[in-house]
Amino acid sequence: MQAALATLQTAALDAIDSAADEAALREIEVDYLGRKGQLTEILRGLKDLSPEEKGKIGKLANEIKTELSEKIEAKARLLVSARFERLAETEWIDPTAPGQYAARGTLHPITQLTREAERIMTSLGFTMATGPEVEDDWHCFTALNIPADHPARDAQDTLFLTGMDDRVLRTQTSAVQIRWMERYSPPFRIAVAGRVFRKDDFDASHSPMFHQLEGLVVDKNISLAHMKAVMEEVVRKLVDPKAKFRFRTSYFPFVEPGLEVDMSCTVCEGRGCPVCKRTGWVEIVGCGLVHPQVLRNVKLDPDEWSGFAFGFGIDRMVMLRHRMTDMRQLFENDLRFLKQF
Ligand code: PHE
Repeated sequence: MQAALATLQTAALDAIDSAADEAALREIEVDYLGRKGQLTEILRGLKDLSPEEKGKIGKLANEIKTELSEKIEAKARLLVSARFERLAETEWIDPTAPGQYAARGTLHPITQLTREAERIMTSLGFTMATGPEVEDDWHCFTALNIPADHPARDAQDTLFLTGMDDRVLRTQTSAVQIRWMERYSPPFRIAVAGRVFRKDDFDASHSPMFHQLEGLVVDKNISLAHMKAVMEEVVRKLVDPKAKFRFRTSYFPFVEPGLEVDMSCTVCEGRGCPVCKRTGWVEIVGCGLVHPQVLRNVKLDPDEWSGFAFGFGIDRMVMLRHRMTDMRQLFENDLRFLKQF
């Protein structure tokens, strides 16, 4: 029996030593130490031995059992760490490798410019404001000092909503000026970026839906110089850092004096092209000092408060920024075109 145990011991140690992986090791453990394993099998013969032999062989058998268990655990630890080492070989990552970008969409060029406009306006101390696209007569026209017979209300321009008394699709973001001034007390600087609607044709430079960037400042002693500085900064940042400007007097009922500002055409760089109608200049904004009657309409005293307002055509700015020649490209949603920006 002693010999059998010795043979078993050598065979088991060999097997443990050469076990290739954790599964093989578990099999060896079951094979030798399990309930039906070889060691158990030998120990079954103990009962036929003399008490003296029993003690001796039993002790030996227990020693072998402990030794094998320890060897198996040691080997198991080796195999586990070897497995992790192999993992480190096959599944390593290189944290210094350059990243891989996932395929990306792009924001629409109008959205891009609008977001930049919001950043620039807020950096100049303006608060972004919004208002409804379905407006009423008061905010869109009357409070802005546009009398009922003004051409801006003409069926040519305004889209009326039938069955909703007095409601129109706003023709200008200037309506938000009134909404803000009715609600808050000056001084304030606000900017509005949003959609406006006019009963226009859809051609190379017109669309029945377009976008405006409105600015309004009401404070003490506001002059055209303040307005000019802000507007030029906005155009240089958003459209063309080298832009030149031409200020022309114009008429809007809600400002006095009223102006229109042209910027140098980016498409032909002033040489003359269809976009600037061969003049080298493109109109991009209407502006002026807030009309005293508008201030009175929102219960502000024009002797105490003054302000300026401007309304840029965002779509125009986008075209000039990217030197586009046809506004329709902005609304046809051809991804091959839009993804360039
Ligand atoms: N609301 C005017 C327009 O739609 C632009 C404008 C805004 C003019 C503010 C003066 C002051 O054309």
